Amino acid sequence: MQILPTVAELRAWSRTTQRSGATVGLVPTMGALHAGHLSLVRAALTQGDRVIVSIFVNPTQFGPNEDFARYPRTFDADCALLEAEGVEAVFAPAIEEMYPSGAATFVEVEGLSGRLDGQSRPGHFRGVATVVAKLFAATEPTRAYFGQKDAAQVAVLRHMVADLLLPVELFVCPIVREADGLAMSSRNRYLSATERADALALSRAIQAGQSAFAAGQRTTEAICAAARLELTRSSAVRVDYVALVDWTTLLPAEQARAGDLLAVAAWLGATRLIDNCILGD
Ligand code: PAJ
Repeated sequence: MQILPTVAELRAWSRTTQRSGATVGLVPTMGALHAGHLSLVRAALTQGDRVIVSIFVNPTQFGPNEDFARYPRTFDADCALLEAEGVEAVFAPAIEEMYPSGAATFVEVEGLSGRLDGQSRPGHFRGVATVVAKLFAATEPTRAYFGQKDAAQVAVLRHMVADLLLPVELFVCPIVREADGLAMSSRNRYLSATERADALALSRAIQAGQSAFAAGQRTTEAICAAARLELTRSSAVRVDYVALVDWTTLLPAEQARAGDLLAVAAWLGATRLIDNCILGD
């Protein structure tokens, strides 16, 4: 497996690979890899792509008081996992490689960028859209793979790809969970034992909303209330948002319909976690 630290090497690898007739599948990550990330790699391999994974903790998507400095960095372990999966190359740039000095161009999907996590984390989706646009420009992948775990991110990136006419196909993979239901996240390792137990409130909230929909409930308020009730059972859980929205626009659903996105975000101590489901899935 090749480790490519520069855009020039990445581009050369991608072009050589595609000239040989192969398709290139890109899996963008911030490292601290777990089975959720690896499911994206497997999806890419199943499509027959030669797979490149980017590992880059992107500073522009973190707010000033967020966890950029302490975000887990486990590069050697990540590479071992990826090599075992059959990944061909890892793009692992330094910050200056992605943001050359004087970088002044950003990508903002207006409207969408301020909804859900974008409302709680101002500037977050501008940072995500910018770095993913750069990764697409540098890699020129045939396909790129993202997790439904970050469903609002998916909506933002789909919109960006359409608006900027980018020649890449996005694939969205299901949420991978721990045996007890907690959605896998690089941030789960921040949780203390009691916070880890309380964190189950998120997946329970999602299940409660999904069950209410399955039982015939169609009012947004009632479905959100069912989810919120689970989140507020433990006083250790601080709710950030509970929202039922159209997955394309991220605007509140007037009435719950199959395909709508039920999303929650909550704090366990200093750790912010998210979870979601698509109604009717
Ligand atoms: P990161 O949080 O490392 O996630 C990388 C990819 O893995 C994302 O597409 C995310 O949705 C997916 N993922 C994370 N947990 C998952 C789970 N439990 N099941 C399925 N997929 C999961 O998302 C980012 O990085 C960054 O914002 C990035 C897109 C790399 C831009 O910096």
